[in-house]
Amino acid sequence: MKKYMLMHKSIPVADIELDEATCVISAVGHVYSEDHVPVGIPVKKGLINRAALNEWWKGRAIPASRVGIRNALEELHLSTTQKLLEKCLGLSLSDQYWICPADSGIEWSQVNFFEHSFSEDVGNILFGQGSASDPMSLMSPDNTSDGWLKKKWKIIDGKRCLIKGGSGATQQEPYNEVLAGSIMKRLGIPHVEYSLLVEDDYPYSVCEDFITSKTDLISAWYLMKTMKKSNHVSVYQHYLDCCNAYGIPGIKESLDRMMVLDYLIVNEDRHQNNFGVIRNAETLEYMGAAPIFDSGTSLWFDKPTMMIDARAKVGCKPFKNDHEEQIKLVTSFDWLDLNTLYGIDEELRELVRGSLFIDEKRCDALCRALRNRVDMLTDIVNTKRTGYAADDCHGDVKEDIPYSN
Ligand SMILES: Nc1ncnc2c1ncn2[C@@H]1O[C@H](COP(=O)(O)OP(=O)(O)OP(=O)(O)O)[C@@H](O)[C@H]1O
Ligand SMILES: [Mg+2]
Repeated sequence: MKKYMLMHKSIPVADIELDEATCVISAVGHVYSEDHVPVGIPVKKGLINRAALNEWWKGRAIPASRVGIRNALEELHLSTTQKLLEKCLGLSLSDQYWICPADSGIEWSQVNFFEHSFSEDVGNILFGQGSASDPMSLMSPDNTSDGWLKKKWKIIDGKRCLIKGGSGATQQEPYNEVLAGSIMKRLGIPHVEYSLLVEDDYPYSVCEDFITSKTDLISAWYLMKTMKKSNHVSVYQHYLDCCNAYGIPGIKESLDRMMVLDYLIVNEDRHQNNFGVIRNAETLEYMGAAPIFDSGTSLWFDKPTMMIDARAKVGCKPFKNDHEEQIKLVTSFDWLDLNTLYGIDEELRELVRGSLFIDEKRCDALCRALRNRVDMLTDIVNTKRTGYAADDCHGDVKEDIPYSN
């Protein structure tokens, strides 16, 4: 058993003990600041729910599903990704939580990754590039990075950047991230900008950290744990309710924009950890929705070329499992000017030019299908504006749209 203090930046949150063999939180002691307990972790009569805190703590580790993680762990001589957590004191580049070894006197200002450089050893191993330094340093924000795609943090020109790979035979995710950024730029949707990096013929996306030493990213997943959801309340409404309870501004508008983007690019994986809000880590004041990030699982990324079709049935998250249904949740299209997307297919063509993974046939299919998605959304918007679609005089979609929230 090892004693730590759970910290939020320089604020002590609670005493905890970690089991050295399993790295789980084996005990939670005195709570110093209930306000700073991670969002969505229940505190009753001054006691933190240990099971919930453990889930949260485990969730900070690299998921076991991460591409290449088995080899990486072997190389690091570690049995689980949770062990890596302790090595970097749980510090992250997406929020300000960490664990301070009891009586160590370590301060946040001495160790945080926002103000201090970090080792690329873990990142390089995750990228299958081995590690140059001996002994290896395991002090890295990569230990607390989420998601299944190969990724690593790197300081580029003094900025903390996340470099993320693609998957499978098409390696399409990095291109998708860049294209999603272009679409959002044209539509005026607050977003994280991704650029393309090609190394040894493999594409990667690069984006800057949108969190600073003064902010926390809080995912929709944890926000939705702050209130009990009644069965008759939809996931969409529940998220709005939770955000409203904290007085977080602009959430409905940001969801409108997210659902529009995801409809256009047919995003299949906007799960509840792929969007959220940002709060001030010191005052705990909520600032608003996080800019849209992680849009790579889209544009038929894992489908063979022959299956690329604007009307193909693909999965949809987080509010409905069908894009045609989810788009009905959009409360207003008044902000949306789809004319700005003119030529976006040519931008996609330019982006994938020279790729060893996306040949001309695939590129043609993607461009055509993307144009069709824009047309399909144009129809939906026109239907909502006029009350009926050009080809459907009985259109009564309005009834499904929750205007009142
Ligand atoms: N630019 C950024 N700044 C700060 N934190 C980020 C940034 N990009 C991603 N993150 C954090 O890292 C996590 C993983 O990143 P991301 O979602 O892009 O990876 P992924 O592998 O595509 O995920 P998934 O498994 O959802 O496909 C995010 O959930 C978020 O918490
Ligand atoms: Mg993700």
